[in-house]
Amino acid sequence: MSFLEIEDLKVHYPIRGGFFNTVVDHVYALDGINMSIERGKTYGLVGESGSGKSTTGKAIMGLEKITDGRIIYEGKDVSKQIRGKNSTYNRDVQMIFQDATSSLNPKKRVRDIIAEPIRNFERLTEGEEKKRILELLDIVGMPEDAMYKYPHEFSGGQKQRLGVARAVACRPKLIVADEPVSALDLSVQAQVLNFMKDIQEEYGLSYLFISHDLGVVKHMCDHISIMYRGRLVESGTREDIYKDPQHIYTKRLIAAIPEIDTENREVHKANRRRVEEEYRQNEKQYYDENGKVYDLKSLTDTHKVALKNIEVGGN
Ligand SMILES: Nc1ncnc2c1ncn2[C@@H]1O[C@H](COP(=O)(O)OP(=O)(O)OP(=O)(O)O)[C@@H](O)[C@H]1O
Ligand SMILES: [Mg+2]
Repeated sequence: MSFLEIEDLKVHYPIRGGFFNTVVDHVYALDGINMSIERGKTYGLVGESGSGKSTTGKAIMGLEKITDGRIIYEGKDVSKQIRGKNSTYNRDVQMIFQDATSSLNPKKRVRDIIAEPIRNFERLTEGEEKKRILELLDIVGMPEDAMYKYPHEFSGGQKQRLGVARAVACRPKLIVADEPVSALDLSVQAQVLNFMKDIQEEYGLSYLFISHDLGVVKHMCDHISIMYRGRLVESGTREDIYKDPQHIYTKRLIAAIPEIDTENREVHKANRRRVEEEYRQNEKQYYDENGKVYDLKSLTDTHKVALKNIEVGGN
């Protein structure tokens, strides 16, 4: 059973212009997204730069004004009431930001940074709070004395761990992780991803994992949604997406994952050329006359794809 339902979510930014600075048009950053989030599962949201991934995350967090659509949390519509210090929704849904450095206040000590959500949502004595912070630092593999330091005294990977510690401080149910590892080098990426997995089991957490790279989310996610121009072009289980991609955009993203295995490199290259050729010849079939992504249609119980006619993308 899903505890969070995103229904037809839209965020349109006004574009102002002309002599009177009136609204002349809109950026359709998010134009009708649906998602169901279940406990303990990891969801991927993947698309190119500018496709609307961060906007989706921020809208779910209440950091971006929703133009239309609803967020249903444990059966209640919370779209109008998010952003309150006392709302359970704001405690239960936390975010790890794309850029760790700018998301940690440089003037505050780590102790106060991690304690911020605790102070907003819980009443703990000073001793209880300290105990919780030490537990959190331990979970993310940081030493006790980190508590008294400032963000600039840490490396990129360590800062990202502090971001994770702050996000899990109030035992949330969902963490929106916006490209949490893309600024880190490969070995540190694996470390951060591994302990995100570990705390997931410990806390029964769900993740909405945002990435521009289908390769990164492959091993993490149970369910993946592919985003293009503010809409979903395809969504399904990991198997649906990697073994049976239907939309040309999904196929292009898969073809773009670098092939490490030298034996398969030629096959991979040929596949990429084939996908590009298919795209050049049939691009129009995949979008409507205005270039807009079609509504999602169900192929199976889990697999949905945005095609005009469901047969178009068949293999
Ligand atoms: N405050 C804003 N005002 C106007 N347009 C905006 C605003 N914020 C974002 N946009 C536009 O909305 C679209 C989606 O932006 P968003 O940040 O969600 O993309 P993204 O998928 O997260 O990209 P990236 O992978 O580069 O982080 C972009 O076209 C962007 O220019
Ligand atoms: Mg982004």
